[in-house]
Amino acid sequence: MIKLSFTLNKTRLELLVDEMKPLSQILYEDLQIDSIERNCNGNVCGNCMILIDKEPTLACLVPAFRLQGTTVTTFDAFMQTAHYRNIKRIYDQLNIEPCPNCYQAKTLIFESILLKAKTKVQQTGDLDDFSKKFLNKGKQRFGETEITAETIDREFQLSSCNCMNSQELLEIALKAEEDRTKRRVL
Ligand code: FES
Repeated sequence: MIKLSFTLNKTRLELLVDEMKPLSQILYEDLQIDSIERNCNGNVCGNCMILIDKEPTLACLVPAFRLQGTTVTTFDAFMQTAHYRNIKRIYDQLNIEPCPNCYQAKTLIFESILLKAKTKVQQTGDLDDFSKKFLNKGKQRFGETEITAETIDREFQLSSCNCMNSQELLEIALKAEEDRTKRRVL
């Protein structure tokens, strides 16, 4: 058994659980969260997707001990946020969205891509003036995207559903980033 301490949807939790118990079971059995699907138990259907810190992760593959000190976000909590509304707005504008089978997984992967792109841009923005000028980065690059076709191919490997092509995924990610910048969705 392990005394587990982590944050779930902004609530700090402490639990005593078997250290190898998968997160999908912890959510369902110990925390009565039934929005996580557990269809395939490890065959990468993608339906149990959650975010751990900024990483999209399959909850059925994460043993309890790996949760120590992390921040976990489930899709039902994510749907209440401005970040979800940003992505949904772009789905509606482009009239493209993931199919019901992978909606949750792909939407959380978009969120992860956008969060990580923002971190990179902020890091570049943190350079001192000399470094900005020297490296031709900093302000000139602030607000520019780090999202590329390679990012999309790499990050969407966790969702095996082929309902959208790479071009559509890239377009959604870029438009969502533009929308966040324009509306100052932090
Ligand atoms: S239940 Fe299918 S990947 Fe977790």
